[in-house]
Order: sequence, then structure tokens, then C-alpha cells
Amino acid sequence: MYSLDPDIFAQRRADLIDRIGEESVAIFTASPHQTRSKDTRFPYRPSSDILYLTGFREPETVVVLAPGHEDGDFFMFVRPRDEDAERWDGRRPGPEGACDDWGADQAWPVDDVDDKLPELLAGRDTLYYTLGNDSEFDARVTRWLNELRHRRGKPPAAPEKLVDARDIIHEMRLRKRPAELELMREAADVSAQAHELAMKYCRPGIREYELQAIIEYHFQRHGSEFPAYPSIVGSGDNATILHYNENRDTIEPDDLILIDAGCELEFYAGDITRCFPASGEFSPAQRDVYQSVLEIQKAALDEAEPGMNLDELQSNCERRTTRALIDLGLLEGSVDELVEEEAFKQYFPHKIGHWLGIDVHDVGPYRHTDGSWRSFEAGMALTVEPGIYIPESDESAPAELRGIGVRIEDDIVFTSQGHENLTDHCPKSIDAIEDIVGTEDIDSVLPVQ
Ligand code: GLY
Ligand code: MN
Ligand code: MN
Repeated sequence: MYSLDPDIFAQRRADLIDRIGEESVAIFTASPHQTRSKDTRFPYRPSSDILYLTGFREPETVVVLAPGHEDGDFFMFVRPRDEDAERWDGRRPGPEGACDDWGADQAWPVDDVDDKLPELLAGRDTLYYTLGNDSEFDARVTRWLNELRHRRGKPPAAPEKLVDARDIIHEMRLRKRPAELELMREAADVSAQAHELAMKYCRPGIREYELQAIIEYHFQRHGSEFPAYPSIVGSGDNATILHYNENRDTIEPDDLILIDAGCELEFYAGDITRCFPASGEFSPAQRDVYQSVLEIQKAALDEAEPGMNLDELQSNCERRTTRALIDLGLLEGSVDELVEEEAFKQYFPHKIGHWLGIDVHDVGPYRHTDGSWRSFEAGMALTVEPGIYIPESDESAPAELRGIGVRIEDDIVFTSQGHENLTDHCPKSIDAIEDIVGTEDIDSVLPVQ
């Protein structure tokens, strides 16, 4: 369906190899498989850098790029074929599959890493490797470097310099190419449709996780194996908890519901937040808070273009949010003083947005190494997600505003002229939302037996 062309991975490796040059070698290791309970595990999510370079999905993988090596430049260590293990835990491509289907020049069983990998480091000046992800592998790398350095009778052959591999690959991942943007548009579309379904099928009396199920079923119906992050379905006061994902409360008639959910399609994330009233009609207080956030988001979208940076977008958003908080009766004082004191943080404690891509909070530095903020450029993808959250427990807030949480989040990609909003078609205005909430009956589609 959506699969990326294998040439795209080859092109990425070629780019990385060009950037590091023949004096260097780079190692990337897979993230570990996490235990869920006792002897069961969470579904495995491959590490994003390995996905970016190879599309290979298995745990325990080690990828080595060694430009100009006599046997090629792309080497892999993977789990070996094993009839018994495969019968229990699933098929493995093994080293042969890594060469035949993933284009490795040579591949070995991962248990051979101590025998084979040090030779790939020998004679290079610089090793690109990220310390701190896997202490056991870090110790091995250190041992290989020491062994190479002290090999008897041979000149020192170990890389002298160690550079964080993220510096180079995350810079590459920051600018999305056309094929990636196609996937991101699809991920955004599927995520937007799922939000629309949740609005349609919502009714008071169901559990938050029932809306989650509708959303995630839609993701899977459309080729997305997993959500890009744990779906947040917060009704009433739960909407004021930023990363709420218990999702087990019953939805009450007067609740405003905040849903922050996005699918991961071919490992590219959508990330959308929408809010809607369970009854289908905003109360006056919900309407006031919602309309304020909508206007703040619109202003941010209106100004988001190449040349601007995240700090400017954030500062402008803080200022507008402060103005709105005064108008809502949540803060008192002058905008300048309140911004200076960061009083807005009580109700808007997070950032206006983040990079989006293979990781939902995608990689790439927001600043240059001298600390200055980097400008947005065509191909960079960003979320725009202002919010106002007033916990039920906030006795300083007007009573009618307590227990209301609103965030509105869209996904944009910068173009040479401005940006493309990938999620604009997901219902967002008060009228569009009120027109749609509760228009379908969940029992008519999936009756409870
Ligand atoms: N869904 C996580 C976030 O919006 O940052
Ligand atoms: Mn986000
Ligand atoms: Mn989000």
C-alpha cells in the first residue's frame, strides 16, 4: 500500500555516507524490546534512526555504515534464523534476508558482533555513535576501541574521535522529502477522519476508552498498525491533564472532551487534538475558552512561515494567551507584566509545538550550536497546539470555568512560501463541531451483545 520505495532508504544511506566521509564509520543500534508484564512484552517499535536508514523492523539489530570499505558500505547484524524461536515468536529474515531484501552488503548473526564489528572500525578517524542508549553496547564499543588501540605489533587503528551520530542523522530527518510528505499527508488524513468519527459517535454514558477504540479501529482499517503515541481521551476535568491516558471515565452530559490522537502510518506520525462537547452543544463557559484557544491557534497559523522560528511563535502565543486569560477572568494585571512573570504557565504550561515525523516529538535541533533559534525552512514539519487548561481544583478561577481543558492541534509543513496545513479539514470551528457531534449511533454499527 503505502510502503516507501527501497531506493529511498538507499538514498538516505548514501547521503549519510557522503556527510561522514571515508575517514569515518557510523553505528546505529536498535532500541530494546520492553517487558509489559512478567514474560509478555509490549509490541516492538523499532528505533526511528534504523527505520529511517533501512526500514528494518527487528529488535537487536546493529547497522554499520563504513564508507569505502572493500566489502561494501552497509553492514548489518541481525537475529539469526532459528526454527524453534521462529515457531514461537515469529519469522525472522536473518542475515540472508537482510542482504537480499534490505540491501545490506554483508550481514551476520548479531552474536557475531564482537568478532566482526571491530574490523569495521579499524583504520577510521571518527566513530559516529550515540552513547547512553544502551549501556551494555556502550561498554562493548569502549572495549573494541581499546582493543584496537592496543593491538600488538600493529599501528594504532582505532578511531580517535567519537561524535554523536544524532548530530548528523537528526539533521537529515528534520527536512522531509516528497515521499515522506505523502505519508505524512496520509497519516494526517486518517487521523483527521478518526477524530471526526469520535465526534459523530460520541454520546454521554459511554467510556472514554470507547471513543479511543473507535479512533484506533479507524487507524487500523486504514493501514496504520499503531497509534503514534498513547491516545488521550479526557472528558471534563481529565482534559486539564496534559498527557492523560487512563481513558476509563464515563463521559457525562456536560463534559467537554479533549482528544489528542494520531496514527502512525508506515512509521510517520499524525498528531491532532480536537475538543467537543458531549452533548453536542458548548456551554457558554466552554464556548468562551474554546473560542479563545481557536483564535490563538489561528493567529499562530497565520504567521507560521519560513524565516520565523519556534521561539518567536512561542512568545507570540504566550502573549496572546495572556491577553485571553485576562479577558476570561483567569489573570489580573497588565499583559507585559504577566508575560514577564510567566503567569500564563498556570494555564498554558507547554510549548506551542514540536517537530513531527517518524517520532511524534520528532528529532532535529531547534537551535543552532551558538544558542540562536533556527529559522523554519521548507520541508520541516511542526505541530501548532495552543491550549488553556483550568483544573477543577483551581479555586482562584471563576467557578464556571473550572474543569475545562482545551487544546487545538494541527500539523503543518513549511513550504517555500508559507505552510501546508495537513489537518485543517478536521472539524474545528464551533459550528462545524456542533453540527457533527452525536449524529451517529454507535449501537447501530457495533451493537453490544
Ligand atoms: N500528542 C502529544 C503532543 O501533542 O505533543
Ligand atoms: Mn503534539
Ligand atoms: Mn498531540
